[in-house]
Amino acid sequence: MTHKILFIIGSNRKQSFNRQLADKLIAMIGSRAECAILDYSAVPFLNQDAEYPAPEAITLLRETVAAADALWIITPEYNASYPGLLKNVLDWLSRPVVRNDYATPTVMRGKKATISGAAGKSAAAHARKKLAELLGFMGVQLFGEEGIGIALGGESFGSDKLIVSEDTQKALQAHVDNFLSFLA
Ligand SMILES: Cc1cc2nc3c(=O)[nH]c(=O)nc-3n(C[C@H](O)[C@H](O)[C@H](O)COP(=O)(O)O)c2cc1C
Repeated sequence: MTHKILFIIGSNRKQSFNRQLADKLIAMIGSRAECAILDYSAVPFLNQDAEYPAPEAITLLRETVAAADALWIITPEYNASYPGLLKNVLDWLSRPVVRNDYATPTVMRGKKATISGAAGKSAAAHARKKLAELLGFMGVQLFGEEGIGIALGGESFGSDKLIVSEDTQKALQAHVDNFLSFLA
């Protein structure tokens, strides 16, 4: 069976390094899974006054996540955490579909997921740690703990191109293979 992996990227920047990382991982996965990148451009800021009935973009968001066998969440690091736009999407996904129905699992509960991140010197370590905590709180079945991080160098920042060392390339390849085995 081919699994569906949905990539959620915590950056909407055109030349996003994290988007480039997603593209690299999708290329590494090849035909071993069906991959897609979540488009959350229509998702509004969460406002509890406008939660029920759910906005159309939220219904679509939930359906897209529910249809995926697994999530691969890729985060930049903003001030030692994940960006607010990623938190907004995850907050929506953490909410009950029916008002005050906390008994029915949310689309996040039990969902298999893994984490990566590209940032400056920290290799998004703070963001990945906090993201792992957040996903744990939401009941996600997290693979590979805080995942692999990429510390972007001057060459990447200067060219807007994701450049990874051979060691990082190997670590990413191993993470891909292990995650696919976990899903199998
Ligand atoms: C508001 C803001 C805060 C940032 N804080 C950090 C940080 O704490 N640590 C870090 O390594 N990089 C930090 N950065 C740099 C980003 O991680 C880096 O620009 C990264 O490339 C952004 O991801 P993207 O290329 O996918 O958009 C920050 C960038 C912004 C815009």
